[in-house]
Amino acid sequence: MCGIVGYVGQRSALDVVMGGLRRLEYRGYDSGGVALVGDGTIMSAKKAGKLVNLDAELAARPLPHSHTGIGHTRWATHGAPNDVNAHPHLDAAERVAVVHNGIIENFAALRAELEAAGHELVSETDTETVAHLLHDELARTPDLSDAVRAVCRRLEGAFTLVICDAAQPDVVVGARRNSPLVVGRGQGENFLGSDVAAFIEYTRDAVELGQDQVVTITPDAIVVTDFFGAPAVTKEYHVDWDVSAAEKGGFEWFMLKEIDEQPQAVADTLLGRHTIDGQLQLDEMRLSDGELRDVDKVIIVAAGTSFYAGMTAKYAIEHWTRIPCEVELASEFRYRDPILDRTTLVLTISQSGETMDTLMAIRYARQQRARVLSICNTNGSTIPRESDAVIYTHAGPEVAVASTKGFLAQVVACYLLALYIAQVKGTKYGDEIATIIAELEKTPAGIQRMLDEGDQVRKLAAELAGSRSILFLGRHVGYPVALEGALKLKELAYIHAEGFAAGELKHGPIALIEEGVPVFVIVPPKARDQLQEKIVSNIQEIRARGARTIVLAEDGDMDVVPFADHLIRLPKVPTLLQPLVATVPLQIFACELAGQLGHDVDQPRNLAKSVTVE
Ligand code: AGP
Repeated sequence: MCGIVGYVGQRSALDVVMGGLRRLEYRGYDSGGVALVGDGTIMSAKKAGKLVNLDAELAARPLPHSHTGIGHTRWATHGAPNDVNAHPHLDAAERVAVVHNGIIENFAALRAELEAAGHELVSETDTETVAHLLHDELARTPDLSDAVRAVCRRLEGAFTLVICDAAQPDVVVGARRNSPLVVGRGQGENFLGSDVAAFIEYTRDAVELGQDQVVTITPDAIVVTDFFGAPAVTKEYHVDWDVSAAEKGGFEWFMLKEIDEQPQAVADTLLGRHTIDGQLQLDEMRLSDGELRDVDKVIIVAAGTSFYAGMTAKYAIEHWTRIPCEVELASEFRYRDPILDRTTLVLTISQSGETMDTLMAIRYARQQRARVLSICNTNGSTIPRESDAVIYTHAGPEVAVASTKGFLAQVVACYLLALYIAQVKGTKYGDEIATIIAELEKTPAGIQRMLDEGDQVRKLAAELAGSRSILFLGRHVGYPVALEGALKLKELAYIHAEGFAAGELKHGPIALIEEGVPVFVIVPPKARDQLQEKIVSNIQEIRARGARTIVLAEDGDMDVVPFADHLIRLPKVPTLLQPLVATVPLQIFACELAGQLGHDVDQPRNLAKSVTVE
């Protein structure tokens, strides 16, 4: 997720663009940059870090006045967050400037083609290839919109592009596929933005763009076509949010917005990670296939929700790679004197990349000569920098303290790593891996369905708002989901909540069951019938003792119906992928209940987004 702004009109383009970027900075703050169209030239400035760094750069080296410009705040996916990789990216002749949000899946092949033709690219980004492709297209088709359409027809993946051209000073062109871009319609001026927060202080009249569309804005016109130049149908609407609501995409809380972004977070984390024939390619690995082939033990180390992502991943890692996998709390790991050696892979998981418990575990593991691979959502943060290798999740910035899209993206990234190791070790055939990848690629639709059916959970939250304690049960991969559901409720609603392995009930926790106590039960798919049968028995046991059962079970599982006071249906997915859909109702429940109790959902009491102390 990045912040993008485009402007053409009678105001100072720099003022409009920088103001828009400040309101979009929550979408990414690895770097910032602007490009303005002067008389026959592009004038640009860009700096790594937050926008204050760009402000300082502009104060030190002011850009001449202009009425046409574009800007970008970056959430890095390809390429470290430094000055060179910051957007905008220009062609060698500095005629066009490009800002981009998304992932161009085929950029490596395009880059190779450009370099073979003599182009010299200076950054590690996928975006820079677009600037050079436009340079070549403009030599053939001088109209910027035609050139953009021609380039878009060659791109694969997800992208929002906004471009300006030194030779066409009153024009800004945008394009989108699988990534957001909206138009702001003004009087004698027009705007482009990743979302309406980019221009809401100037206009509330917006135009929503559809898939595979190109928009050309001038001060007095907005023209929208498809990638082949045919006129496109668009939807005009009036924005009635205030600026604060606009930054949350109209949601009351960032957490609700981030829950809603989960289908895209999972899709983006999967994007560009495998070739057409299903071969996995994890481009930030920095561990050779030989080193991975030598791995004979995996120890997952993380904290909080990330720890539960690791617990979930353990089942897949062992099942697909046949390597033993332990999961350790980061705060406990180095104090238990673990047995590590060169063939141990320590896999750390962290959304922020700054959790001190996890960072100290990494330093300990590396002293013990273990190899460290991190799964992280924050490019350039401390944990990836101190690891031997990193796989980035592409969930975009997670602002709410309670992690949601970060968790689902972490599970997906762990699964990709497990499949990659299985591919390298040969414990899974290519077609088996392709089948699993195909199932993973269906999960965004399953997650979206859980979002669409969220009202049932919101009603339940209202009914259970007075509960003093709520329990969560699960088996197999449903067990870490139960733990995560309990954690969400604790940290948001400040209600006592506890997750259990359902098989543990009879060893003590069943004493907690009394009349009316709410118990969520995550039921495994019937494909694993010995698990499903046993957990149905657990539901009967607690119901017989008065529990109020909220049962999450896949479509068509009729065994649970007689014992479910509330039944939340899940899409049919393979057992190991069920956490990606089952977790969503539990997130919505905790968020909704906290809101009904009047809590600050985004900033719960006593908590911080990143725990940078031990
Ligand atoms: C999860 O909702 C909490 N915010 C917390 O448990 C968090 O997952 C934990 O502190 C780990 O953070 P990290 O993923 O940034 O390392």
